[in-house]
Amino acid sequence: MKTSLVTGATGQDGSYLIRKLLSEGRRVCALIRRASTSNMSRLSDLREGIQSNGSELIYCTGDLTDTPSLMRTLGEFEPDEVYNLAAQSDVRLSFDVPEFTGEVDGMGALRLLESIRRLGLTEKTRFYQASTSELFGDVREKPQRETTPFAPRSPYAIAKLFAYWTTVNYREAFGVFACNGILFNHESPLRGENFVTRKITLGAARLRAGLQEKLLLGNLDARRDWGHAQDYVEGMYLMLQQDKPDDYVLATGEQRSVRDFLETVFNKLGYELVWSGTGADEKGKDRKTGRVLVEIDPQFYRPAEVNYLCGDATKAADKLGWSPKHTFDELVDDMLQHDIKQVEREILHR
Ligand code: NAP
Ligand code: GDD
Repeated sequence: MKTSLVTGATGQDGSYLIRKLLSEGRRVCALIRRASTSNMSRLSDLREGIQSNGSELIYCTGDLTDTPSLMRTLGEFEPDEVYNLAAQSDVRLSFDVPEFTGEVDGMGALRLLESIRRLGLTEKTRFYQASTSELFGDVREKPQRETTPFAPRSPYAIAKLFAYWTTVNYREAFGVFACNGILFNHESPLRGENFVTRKITLGAARLRAGLQEKLLLGNLDARRDWGHAQDYVEGMYLMLQQDKPDDYVLATGEQRSVRDFLETVFNKLGYELVWSGTGADEKGKDRKTGRVLVEIDPQFYRPAEVNYLCGDATKAADKLGWSPKHTFDELVDDMLQHDIKQVEREILHR
């Protein structure tokens, strides 16, 4: 049985990837960091131990800022694969905690790769690094592909740039089977509530139920290439099953603004947004009632913004046979239906 170690196991992608790996019959070691309150909500339905198909799930404790815990875990399980998904992944927050972000998102990848080397696992352990479209930042080419120059615009992206090149370096210098997945934004009902798509689907569902008065947002004109996380973990898995290690963009190739996302969600709930004002004074009102549903709060602006991301995943399609399965409309429906039910439960438990 092959063993896969997943860091960032409690996050959105970790929880989908663990399910994927268990369905492939793996022994999965899920690395969890210590938290003062439970961080296991996305894994709450997964039982530790042998699963019905013979695969196995093991929870182990570790932290990307703590080399001994990484050495211990890698040494104990000698995994065939490491998927490094752990990160301080909030771009806005990275401006407030830049050093911590660098420690986890940049140095964390180095700690894992160097531990693999020190433990003599370079020929055994394949490594996936969760790289990001944020690397393209102030984009130098449209759409962005593997050969597009990087131009990071945040402490998050700069830390991820270090991790990207560290991954390439361990591949070239030490022969580690190490891959970068340069993933464009991917969302789901399990997305953190601090990210704009989930903030909108959950906020709109609450607003409709009378639990929230309005939605406060930042830059509505930023454009992103949004896919479904379930499709993207399939791509991560495929990268580590190839004959040779390489770096791949995963993206839908479609791009929308935050405003487009908002309008799609509100339309599905029976509202039609009309806009008035400019900049921080802009407001979105319901055409029928005149009620203000959306306002701008400058605290959600970023010191430096990434305005435009749209990916070209041709290489992943050609070499991995990967393409996204969910349409944009299916993604929004999946998130919104989930959040409508979540709000109904919230009301029941009041
Ligand atoms: P996420 O939901 O924020 O999950 C991040 C995970 O990292 C959580 O499990 C978190 O644990 C863990 N973590 C944070 N600091 C840690 C530390 N010091 N030691 C160990 N674990 C730590 O992120 P995601 O959306 O699943 O993304 C997964 C990865 O892909 C991240 O590296 C992200 O930067 C990258 N990425 C994401 C996207 C996207 O659109 N989702 C796109 C490109 C790249 P807690 O639960 O304890 O906080
Ligand atoms: N979070 C947030 N909150 N973003 C807002 C808001 C708001 O209230 N209002 C507008 N935005 C804009 C942001 O300024 C940004 O341009 C866009 O919405 C998307 O923001 P996020 O959803 O926070 O995602 P992100 O693109 O910054 O980062 C995500 O995707 C990256 C891949 O491109 C994260 O998952 C990163 O970890 C990931 O690497």
